Amino acid sequence: MSTSAISGKLGVFDSGLGGLLIARAVRDELPDLDMFYMGDTLHLPYGNRSDHAIYEYTRQCMDFMFEQGCQLIVMACNTASAAALQRLQQTYLANAWPGRNIIGVVVPTLEVAIECGYKKLGLIGTNYIIKSNIFAEELTKLSPDIEIIQKATPLLVPLIENDGGQWTKSVLEHYLAGMQEQGMECLILGCTHYPALKSQIRDVLGDDFPLISQDEIIPKKLIQYLNNNQEYADNINKNRKIEFFVSDLTDNYKQAALRIYGEHINITQTEFHG
Ligand code: DGL
Repeated sequence: MSTSAISGKLGVFDSGLGGLLIARAVRDELPDLDMFYMGDTLHLPYGNRSDHAIYEYTRQCMDFMFEQGCQLIVMACNTASAAALQRLQQTYLANAWPGRNIIGVVVPTLEVAIECGYKKLGLIGTNYIIKSNIFAEELTKLSPDIEIIQKATPLLVPLIENDGGQWTKSVLEHYLAGMQEQGMECLILGCTHYPALKSQIRDVLGDDFPLISQDEIIPKKLIQYLNNNQEYADNINKNRKIEFFVSDLTDNYKQAALRIYGEHINITQTEFHG
C-alpha cells in the first residue's frame, strides 16, 4: 500500500472504455470533482473471463487507482461488480486501503427498477453477468416478488467498441425478441457500454419502452451517496481536474474513446501490465 498523500479524486473504473459513458454522465452532474478514469483495456473483455481472473485484474486496478489518490471508486463495470466487489469490500479494502471505498452498480440499478413499480424486469448483460445471476440474487433480497428475464448479449460490446453500428439492429432484434414474448415490462441495460445503444434498442422495442440505463442512474445515486457520506465528499478535491488511464493504449482505443466520451480526451497508458 502506498502511503503517499496524493490529492483526493473520485475514481470511475471499467474493464475498458464503455465506462466512459458513465464517467461522462457523472462529469456532467458533478463537474467540480476531480475525477480519475481507469479502463483495463489490456484485459478486456472481462465478460468472458473466470471469477479468479476478473477478481485479480480488478484488484490490481483498485490498487493503482487508490495509489493515484482515489478516495472513492465507482465500479461502473457490471461484470467486475459481480465478480469482485463483495470480496474486495469484505477482505481487501479495510486491510489495504482503510478509509477508502468502492461502490458498485448492480443494487442501485435494481433499486430504480423496483421504485418504478415493474413486476417483470428484463436484463441484458455480458455472459458473465447473466451466468453469475447477480441481478436475480440481489433482486430476491430486495423484492422477492419481482421476476427477472435475463439474456446474455455478448456481441454488443464488440459492436460498440469497433463502430459496428450497421449490424447492431439485427443483433438486437435477435436478442430481444424472446424477451418481449415473455412479457418483460422494462429493460435493464446491465453493461457499461449499453447506454450507447439506447436509440437502437428503442427502434426495436418501441419509443416508449422503458429502459433502465445506468448513465441516468449512477450520477444520481452517487450524489445521494456523497450527501450521506460526507467524509468522501470532503476528501475529493473540487478543482475540475480529470485524468484518463488505460492499461493498454492503441489508435483504435483512442478513436473509440472519442466516440464514446463525445470529446477529445488525453489518455495515458499505465505502467503496470498484469
Ligand atoms: N464493462 C463490462 C460490464 O459492464 C462489459 C465489457 C467487458 O466484458 O469487459 O459488464
